[in-house]
Amino acid sequence: MSQQKTYQTARGVRDILPADQKYWQFFRCVSEKILSSLGIERIDLPHFENLEIYSRGLGNATDIVQKGMFTLDSASDDDSETKYALRPEFTAGAVRAYIQNGMGSWSQPVRLYYIGAAFRRERPQKGRYREFYQLGVEIFGDGSAKSDYLAIMSSWEILKQLGLKNLIVYANSIGCPKCRPKYLIKLKKYYKDKLSKLCDDCHVRYDKNTLRLLDCKEELCKKIADSAPTTLDSLCPECNTHFQSTLEYLDYFNIRYDLDPKLVRGLDYYTKTVFEICLVDDKSRQSSLVGGGRYDGLVELLGGQKTPAVGFSFGMDRVVSAMKEQKVSVPEKRGVEVAILQLGEKAKAASKKVFDLLLKDDINVFFVPSNDSLRSQIRQAVKQSAKYAIIIGQTEAMKGDLILRDLSASAQETIPLEYIVEEIKKRLA
Ligand code: HAM
Repeated sequence: MSQQKTYQTARGVRDILPADQKYWQFFRCVSEKILSSLGIERIDLPHFENLEIYSRGLGNATDIVQKGMFTLDSASDDDSETKYALRPEFTAGAVRAYIQNGMGSWSQPVRLYYIGAAFRRERPQKGRYREFYQLGVEIFGDGSAKSDYLAIMSSWEILKQLGLKNLIVYANSIGCPKCRPKYLIKLKKYYKDKLSKLCDDCHVRYDKNTLRLLDCKEELCKKIADSAPTTLDSLCPECNTHFQSTLEYLDYFNIRYDLDPKLVRGLDYYTKTVFEICLVDDKSRQSSLVGGGRYDGLVELLGGQKTPAVGFSFGMDRVVSAMKEQKVSVPEKRGVEVAILQLGEKAKAASKKVFDLLLKDDINVFFVPSNDSLRSQIRQAVKQSAKYAIIIGQTEAMKGDLILRDLSASAQETIPLEYIVEEIKKRLA
């Protein structure tokens, strides 16, 4: 007999199974609570956008744009010239949304957060997927260090509230269009007589993305970068003051940070502050939990008015994995309190009515209308760990009565429909 063909997920993507859902649920819950208390509102953005938003926004020479995007052939049926890509991140899409929806005329700053999947064609490895989840914040319209602090503080606070330990912020400032060109000249000068020692990628970076020479992961390149001139030594007075104020906030509010003069991040839109949050023992720094920074030129670059902005994104997969590794305790979901079991045609309508009543009173119900025997339905209710079962047969349906059964004591009594919610609440309390 020929074997049925079975299917697997594509490389670098995976299922998130029910057993892990409590971590994700807790993460979303804690984040949404903290973010809304900081006046940050949710936005949902499309999963794909015009490819140019990413190539112009993130930078043509970046690794993501060069080799990391999933492009779509058939996203448009009206304009075959326009190419689309699955979002490799959210910031460029959020900027498009800010401009398209006229958010520049809203009261500033506009503070937004988003949650969802992002897609990058990367070589899959631990903590690096082709489909992964980000939860992030973008703050538009405030150029002061207060918003840099808000971005760092909110991500830090969420990780703390999740129960994660041994966290550290790495921070740097990579300057602005006034001071960075002068710095890049210095950097190129430093690298000029070392070119033969650099890896192939760094040769390309030297011409096309000079700043990124600093964060090459090849051992020899790393050594050479250790003695390179730093951006911090070349900041203009404005960038310097901005960065000092950001650090003062972090000091004042006791956020543990280290300066990392080689932190430049992999996206071209950044200006001034850049940061990552990592676990202290992640020495290779390949698995940052959070990445972010300021991008004061991006709104204008994508066609809007000049608008300062700053933000960050969590890699949710990595945060969940750290929660599991550190064995953080996650509140268990409130289990099933009552299962509704029904026998016969007449009971169907009555059971739906009971279902509506219990839901309205926020009682956790298990209700899968079925034609199974009572014994089988009780078995299913026990499997769900339900505390009580409401049993509705033909007779009960006609009389307007219900049988309330305590599944642990196997005791039961008949209760009129109009008293059922009250009785269950009394027992649950
Ligand atoms: P990013 O550093 O590219 O920045 O990504 C942010 C976070 O997403 C990383 O720190 C990491 O935790 C996670 N991440 C990135 N790639 C993967 C992957 N392949 N698999 C699993 N997790 C991954 C951005 O995306 C910027 N848009 C952040 C930002 C927002 N900057 C300003 N606003």
